[in-house]
Amino acid sequence: MDDRTPVWTVIVAAGSGTRFGGAKQYLELAGMRVVDRSVAAAAQVSDGVVVVVPPADVSTESSRSAATAVVAGGPSRAASVRNGLAAVPPEAAIICVHDAARPLAGPDIYHKVVGEVRAGAGGAVPVVPVTDTIRRVDGEVVDRSTLQAVQTPQAFRAELLRMAHTGAGDATDDAGLVQAAGYPVVAVEGHPRNIKITHPHDLVVAEAWLAT
Ligand code: CTP
Ligand code: MG
Repeated sequence: MDDRTPVWTVIVAAGSGTRFGGAKQYLELAGMRVVDRSVAAAAQVSDGVVVVVPPADVSTESSRSAATAVVAGGPSRAASVRNGLAAVPPEAAIICVHDAARPLAGPDIYHKVVGEVRAGAGGAVPVVPVTDTIRRVDGEVVDRSTLQAVQTPQAFRAELLRMAHTGAGDATDDAGLVQAAGYPVVAVEGHPRNIKITHPHDLVVAEAWLAT
């Protein structure tokens, strides 16, 4: 695949933010909404961006968002990805999937994952080392050196991602689905800055990163 291979990005923003306590995707982060930051970064590296929002927000977001298309999400993240994929045109040869809730992902990390797919990988995901000691609920401590935390954006050859999503699977991670379908996915170095806004304190961390 050469440098002109069409790349589209699906930004999933249709969650309800249960752990956060509200719709975190619409919060202002240093003057720009979380979802708009995610769309803006994706737009710098993509031929088109599909943003997936809660069904009730499709019409307001259609007038507000800079995305190419705004579509309604589903009951799970995977269902929302599938709805987004349905709006990505067939000419897209590489499709990235990104959580709107990671507003600090910049063009650099997109270039890394897309570059791996252009170079022949079926998929590429950013990973970072796990810093906490991890203990299983049953009490067993897991060797941290065998673990990596997975971030988004993740990039895939379009047909593999579409195929992996033909089932009704409910995985939180697209790379997991593509791998489960039998295709290897490579890892690239993610960035500790690329946090996911999950709990209210994550917003404080994101603001601090933006101030650095
Ligand atoms: N997401 C989605 N559709 C869903 C569930 C999640 O598009 N049905 C999106 C979220 O908007 C978010 C990303 O998937 O950008 C990662 O999900 P998460 O951080 O879990 O967000 P929420 O599901 O909104 O939060 P929570 O799990 O605490 O309810
Ligand atoms: Mg969730």
